[in-house]
Amino acid sequence: MATIRRPARPQDAAALLVVYNEYDTAELGQPEMELSDIVGWLAIDGSERIVAEADGRVVGYADVGANGEAETVVLPSYAGARQLQRELLDWVVTTATAKSVGRIEHFAGTSPDGAAALLADAGFVHARTIWRMSRPVTGELTQPRWPAGVTLRPFERDRDGRAVWQVVMTSFAGTLGSHLRPVEEWSTPVLDQGSEVVCAVEADEVVGVATPDARQGDGHVGQLAVLPQHRGRGLGLALLQECLRRDAAAGLTSTTLTVDGDNVLARRLYEKAGMAVVTQYRRWERDV
Ligand SMILES: CC(C)(COP(=O)(O)OP(=O)(O)OC[C@H]1O[C@@H](n2cnc3c(N)ncnc32)[C@H](O)[C@@H]1OP(=O)(O)O)[C@@H](O)C(=O)NCCC(=O)NCCS
Repeated sequence: MATIRRPARPQDAAALLVVYNEYDTAELGQPEMELSDIVGWLAIDGSERIVAEADGRVVGYADVGANGEAETVVLPSYAGARQLQRELLDWVVTTATAKSVGRIEHFAGTSPDGAAALLADAGFVHARTIWRMSRPVTGELTQPRWPAGVTLRPFERDRDGRAVWQVVMTSFAGTLGSHLRPVEEWSTPVLDQGSEVVCAVEADEVVGVATPDARQGDGHVGQLAVLPQHRGRGLGLALLQECLRRDAAAGLTSTTLTVDGDNVLARRLYEKAGMAVVTQYRRWERDV
């Protein structure tokens, strides 16, 4: 069946959410996206994005970021879905090559019959494993104990936005598989789309942050970051417990997060906070 390819537009967000929800349910076992994620991404400059249409509806989407992060999603109920994803992957490789991104990254589930087979055919290799962890936040929760001298202060974007971005980038620098992002590229999908920021300060300096939001009816900790010189004092655990506490206070029943499987320290911390692995994703990569 013939499909039309065209650049993605901000007005496509709602149609793309339908595609993502069906695709993620088939590929990853559950919907992953909120409308705000897609709106945020479509607003970031520097990525190439196309949608595929057939029979007057959106049936596929692909993008390639300047740092090589790429996605292809197709509506599983569309008859030509498999072939379309193959073609979108070809587009990704061609576009990434033209943009000289160096290395492409693409997520997939664990089923060998899903996107993994197409990625392998397109020359990608399984490079990283990402764990989704979760815990219920009903019942008694351990209250956060802040290290001496550390307090929480309400996040104010004008005052704290740049410092929070700096803490996230400094903390994640060199962490397995993470990307450094310019302040606007980080802020657009996080702050502009309504993530909360838990902001820990010591001597008036932001030293640790967490960015919780709601996802598919659960709480979700987007990023947890503590400046290197402030680690090992229980601040990371306290920030996580604060996120759990806020989710419970908001009436949510569980909190989730994702972590790189090789980030042993972070995973141990999450297990200590009562989180358990529920599912696994894989990151496939290919040099161009
Ligand atoms: C993961 C992270 C938030 C933990 O912050 P933290 O304030 O050090 O966390 P805690 O102090 O509560 O716990 C850290 C654990 O490492 C141990 N540790 C000891 N020395 C440490 C040190 N110099 N640095 C870090 N951790 C140390 C702590 O003792 C503790 O283990 P324990 O609970 O078994 O005693 C922080 O390391 C970080 O920002 N890492 C980079 C970003 C990242 O990986 N984020 C999570 C991925 S989603």
